Amino acid sequence: MHAIEMSNLTKFYDTLCAVDDLTLSINNEIFALLGPNGSGKTTTVLMLTTLLHPTGGNAMVCGNDIISQAEEVRKCISYVPQDMAVDIKLTGRENVRFFADLYGVPDAKDRVDEVLEVMELTDRADDLIKTYSGGMRRRLELAQALVHEPNVLFLDEPTIGLDVAARKKIWEHIRDLRKKGMTIFVTTHYMDEADQFCDRVGIISRGRIAALGSPSELKARLMKDVITVRVDGECAPPPLDGVAYVGRTGDELSFTAENGSETLPVLAGSLARTGATIRAMSLREPTLDDVFLQAVGQQEEPHGFEDGKFRIMLRRRK
Ligand SMILES: Nc1ncnc2c1ncn2[C@@H]1O[C@H](COP(=O)(O)OP(=O)(O)OP(=O)(O)O)[C@@H](O)[C@H]1O
Ligand SMILES: [Mg+2]
Repeated sequence: MHAIEMSNLTKFYDTLCAVDDLTLSINNEIFALLGPNGSGKTTTVLMLTTLLHPTGGNAMVCGNDIISQAEEVRKCISYVPQDMAVDIKLTGRENVRFFADLYGVPDAKDRVDEVLEVMELTDRADDLIKTYSGGMRRRLELAQALVHEPNVLFLDEPTIGLDVAARKKIWEHIRDLRKKGMTIFVTTHYMDEADQFCDRVGIISRGRIAALGSPSELKARLMKDVITVRVDGECAPPPLDGVAYVGRTGDELSFTAENGSETLPVLAGSLARTGATIRAMSLREPTLDDVFLQAVGQQEEPHGFEDGKFRIMLRRRK
């Protein structure tokens, strides 16, 4: 039995297909769902946590059907949403205790103390949450999510808006939970975090999985060097044998080539002939950012059908 098993999971909002036929199993791992804004990450999480009814397909979580056994599913999972889920007018301890009581946790006092300790919040547990930093609030949300000892943890953008040190701390906690046997389903926009901390990633684009594998598998699959070129102004990349244009982020163009060092001067000459002003060029091994760009492109394409016209989603990556 897998912790999470999705079969043709689909969600339409009116005529907009937000999640399109997802079939995917996740077990004993930190799984990251990556994708541009509006690609269907939160919608997927909301269905798996029983908060949103699928339009089609189904999923099992901890062996329970998310539609017909929603209550059973809720007992064995926790969900930390994208937006803040703590009451800032309570103290940290009161907030966690509230959730312990909601779940009917036995020996609640001891368990609350334990999760506050695990999340390094004991010293500040009796302070009002409104005095906490962003990183502390996120750790408190984790503490409250852990209080009933869930088997599967859903985290929607757990590190968004946090500084580098706070992000690292959150990931250390997530990794510790994984070591204890928890399955963790996380969404994030931070490729470096997914690369460093997650066992497997799925890249979702317009509600569909565009790439799936461990970060190292996905990078190896590109089997190419990456050349990035910073240019001034508009530039039409010329077609060149053995060179693939991946996309543009800001003033940086990305290309892949099988033999980067041979290609670099050829590409420079070719771009210069189009009149482009080249500011910098570099050659490197692929990162998860490159995998993402290749799988998703730099913006969303037509996504839904409204009033007889395709609704064009032109959203840039965060
Ligand atoms: N309640 C809703 N009603 C109508 N459309 C919705 C609703 N919620 C989400 N959508 C649309 O469904 C699509 C997927 O949204 P979703 O929130 O799942 O994306 P996401 O990948 O989580 O985005 P982000 O990275 O911005 O959090 C988007 O086009 C969004 O506008
Ligand atoms: Mg979201």
